[in-house]
Amino acid sequence: MTREELKAAAIAMLDRAYVPYSRFPVGAALECADGTVYTGCNVENASYPAGLCAERNAIFHAVAEGHTDFVRIVVAGRSEDFCVPCGICRQVMREFAPNLEIVCLNGAGEEQSFTLPELLPHSFGPEFLQ
Ligand code: THU
Repeated sequence: MTREELKAAAIAMLDRAYVPYSRFPVGAALECADGTVYTGCNVENASYPAGLCAERNAIFHAVAEGHTDFVRIVVAGRSEDFCVPCGICRQVMREFAPNLEIVCLNGAGEEQSFTLPELLPHSFGPEFLQ
C-alpha cells in the first residue's frame, strides 16, 4: 500500500467512527513492517471512559493478529487542526515502535508528520523493566 493509499484508508475509517457523544470522528491506518495494514476508528461508550481511540483500536487489532512491528500510522480527523494522537495512544505506540512515523491529517486532507520521539520525548518503555 502506498503512503497515499494508507492516508485514504485512515480517512475511510472516519465513516466507521462511533462518536455519538463527542461528534469527533477519528480514523487510523497502521502499516506493519511486512506491509500489512490494520485500521481503526474511535468507539465511544455511554460510560465515557470505556471508549477507545482510533489509534489504539488499530494497534490492538494488529497485536491481536500477531503483528508488533510497526513503521507508520496515519491519523485522520475532520477538523481544521491536524489530528494528533492523545498521550495514552503515544505511550501505546512507544511500547511497540519507538521510532514510529505518525502522519496527522486535518479535514482538508493536509498532513503534518512527526516521529514518536518528537511527540513523546524522554519516554518510558519496556526496556526500563529488564
Ligand atoms: N480521539 C481519538 O480517537 N484519537 C485521537 O488522536 C484524539 C482523540 C477520540 C477520543 C474521543 O472518542 C474523541 O476523539 C474526542 O476526544
